[in-house]
Amino acid sequence: MPIPTPLPRIADFESLAYGMFIHWGLYSQLGKGEWIQSLEKIPFDHYNELEKTFTAEDFDARSIARLARESGMKYIVLTTRHHEGFSLYDTRGLSKHDALHTPAGRDLVAEFVSGCRAEGIVPFFYHATLDWSWQSDTCDQTKFDEYLDYLHSSVEILCKHYGPIGGFWFDGTWSRKADWKEDRLYKMIRSHQPDTIIINNTGIGSEGQLGHPEIDSVTFEQSLPHPMNREGWPKYISGEMCQTMNAHWGIGSSDFAYKSPSDIIQNLAHCRRAGANYLLNVGPTATGRIPDYETAALRRAGEWVARYSDPIYEGKPTTFACQGRDFILEANGKLYYFVFDLAISGHGNVTVSLGGTGPRPIKGLDRPIRSVRWMDNHEELKFTHNPQDGLAAIDFTGYPYGTNLVVRVAEIELH
Ligand code: GLC
Repeated sequence: MPIPTPLPRIADFESLAYGMFIHWGLYSQLGKGEWIQSLEKIPFDHYNELEKTFTAEDFDARSIARLARESGMKYIVLTTRHHEGFSLYDTRGLSKHDALHTPAGRDLVAEFVSGCRAEGIVPFFYHATLDWSWQSDTCDQTKFDEYLDYLHSSVEILCKHYGPIGGFWFDGTWSRKADWKEDRLYKMIRSHQPDTIIINNTGIGSEGQLGHPEIDSVTFEQSLPHPMNREGWPKYISGEMCQTMNAHWGIGSSDFAYKSPSDIIQNLAHCRRAGANYLLNVGPTATGRIPDYETAALRRAGEWVARYSDPIYEGKPTTFACQGRDFILEANGKLYYFVFDLAISGHGNVTVSLGGTGPRPIKGLDRPIRSVRWMDNHEELKFTHNPQDGLAAIDFTGYPYGTNLVVRVAEIELH
């Protein structure tokens, strides 16, 4: 069965590879994650008092976009409206629960889009479909129909007033089994934004599931993507894993469970193994600043991305079998071998090293190898290969003392 060719917009999305997710809203002032209103059953009127203190005084979209760019990220998905029902954009009279009705008094989505454009970052809009302010998950059908009209008009504003948008990222359709009138919504989006990506999060427990035919990419929320077998699919659909930097999406001031640059590197590599994008979340402070730890971790991981930009952005999955978590991507006629768990050479007194060195096998490689070398120090690596039976083995040397790339990449040139 043939594998469909990706539409240009989907191919472009795949080569964005690595993006920043931003969860920011009224909940950021409470510092307990973005679900706090629902979990603590905070009455709506009481919760909305947070609008009076939402100042956005430290929100500098351009500097956030610069951080993303300098960290190797090519797109940002911003929560234009989350489940709380509060919009960061000017709803132009549709709702009074928007940033214009707070001390911020600014259209923060407009700032976001222009900050992204100035830094060459592609802006994407997250928009909730589950909206607690409408009780969209439990209300009766009449109110739900009214809600769907409101949702439609809300999204139309985003389609019409901010220029071309990289994609729309919906979330919450999992909260209610219903006819969400997706045909109508997506048709409207395509009429204004023909090249935009449409994503609708299927949520935890339903990773990688195909939804409506207009959907361009499936989601793997907090779960490492598996390679997708697209044989016989009506359309090529890409994949994306979204993941929090700690355990919440909105800032959690008592949440210390942060990912390290090492985790980020391994997760990004793992996503690319499956050809999927990695969308890594940060939760800005109440006033809109990205916290210091996140900034530092993203920058450090970004230094790794910069070293391996060719395979990370352009590498496509292959079916060659490698040991453990190792894998091979292909780009521009070359193969890139991603090595996990490699030992550090040094001295028994100072180096505690897990992992190993030495030959690692590859199965299914029938094209003759010309050379193999580490991308970082260009050291040439020995190999054995029998193209007839497709078996190769590369003799990987350990990290030189003083280095550890976490995932180290070797470039394989073929004849
Ligand atoms: C979930 C949550 C939500 C978060 C999203 C990100 O669906 O409801 O809070 O925005 O995941 O993937």
